Amino acid sequence: MNPLIWHASIQKELELAAVKVLRSGSYVLGQEANQFEQDASDYLGCSYAISCANGTDALVLALTAADIGPGDEVITTPFTFFASTEAVLRVGATPVFVDIESETFNLNPCCLNEALSNKTRAVLAVHLFGLPARILEIKDFCRINDLVLIEDCAQSFGAEINKIKTGCFGDFGCFSFPPSENQEGYGGGGLVITKDSKYREKLLQLRKHGSTEKYQHKVVGYNSRRDELQVALLKIKLKHIDEYNRQRLDIACYYSEELAGCEVFLPVGNGHVFHQYTIQVDHRERLQRHLTEAGIASAIHYPRPVHHQPTFKNKSIYRSVDDLYCAEVASKNCLSLPIYPGMQKEQFQRVVSEVKSGLAVRHGMVAGV
Ligand SMILES: Cc1ncc(COP(=O)(O)O)c(C=O)c1O
Repeated sequence: MNPLIWHASIQKELELAAVKVLRSGSYVLGQEANQFEQDASDYLGCSYAISCANGTDALVLALTAADIGPGDEVITTPFTFFASTEAVLRVGATPVFVDIESETFNLNPCCLNEALSNKTRAVLAVHLFGLPARILEIKDFCRINDLVLIEDCAQSFGAEINKIKTGCFGDFGCFSFPPSENQEGYGGGGLVITKDSKYREKLLQLRKHGSTEKYQHKVVGYNSRRDELQVALLKIKLKHIDEYNRQRLDIACYYSEELAGCEVFLPVGNGHVFHQYTIQVDHRERLQRHLTEAGIASAIHYPRPVHHQPTFKNKSIYRSVDDLYCAEVASKNCLSLPIYPGMQKEQFQRVVSEVKSGLAVRHGMVAGV
């Protein structure tokens, strides 16, 4: 879907904001970034929000601020976009993979204990596809074992549990705003939230070459400053995020009602914002081929669990405590159906009808088969 079509209602506002920045003469970490951080922390209900260049940086900044590095282990999920694990490797720590729950695609809290060692420093939980992980249990585990909790909320902006937004449960919540996420921007963008003022100070320093005073560099940091143009546009999108998430939810409810009883596993869970609507189906390639032939775009998130990525051929860079069976199955069976704000009723009705006929073809139930 061309974003220009469904952004039409806010197009004028976006253009005015862009022109204002262009004429301001201030392009990096200025007033717009300050205001966006304030608006985002108000919306998310957190104490501090620190914007940065992208979601991968947000994770790296959080891990670095928590002093996690070589010799430390971070328990995490093998079923996510690679960036979640990449951030752990970037700071020199060792990812320790535990399996996911097959029905939610998220880290299984029951597997955490087994992964614990005297090197464990943190848990990095991902709220995949917009569905909150079982974060209260994960948080308890972190509290009992004195671990840092980092939430990867790249796909879950606005998702909540008991009216608390994802990102606010852990020591850090990390967000990402490329055009592909549910809070989509117009280029790259990231945000770290925290309730701890000491972490805030560290994050501010780290994102700007380890400096809080011009040309004074107390630590080695990163260049992760946020540009004004992107945040000015995101600030406008932020006002509409609840409406966009509501539209996603409506489409998801329709899919779930219509596809109930079909031979597919449907997504479950409360507080879901449906960044993706991902089903699990046997013979996925056949169904995907059918959809492609019918002109319907579907996607596979993710065809390889992280521990099967070529970079993990060197098994010494990660540890895993079980056979990661559910992650393996999910990567073989997952298929994401189209879902986006502005999607028209006849479009999602057609998706359902083609999914049904694709499944029927498999069973030879279509006339002439
Ligand atoms: C789960 C997850 N974590 C982290 C990231 C990294 O975000 P970015 O692309 O902004 O670096 C992404 C991006 O797609 C993601 O999906």
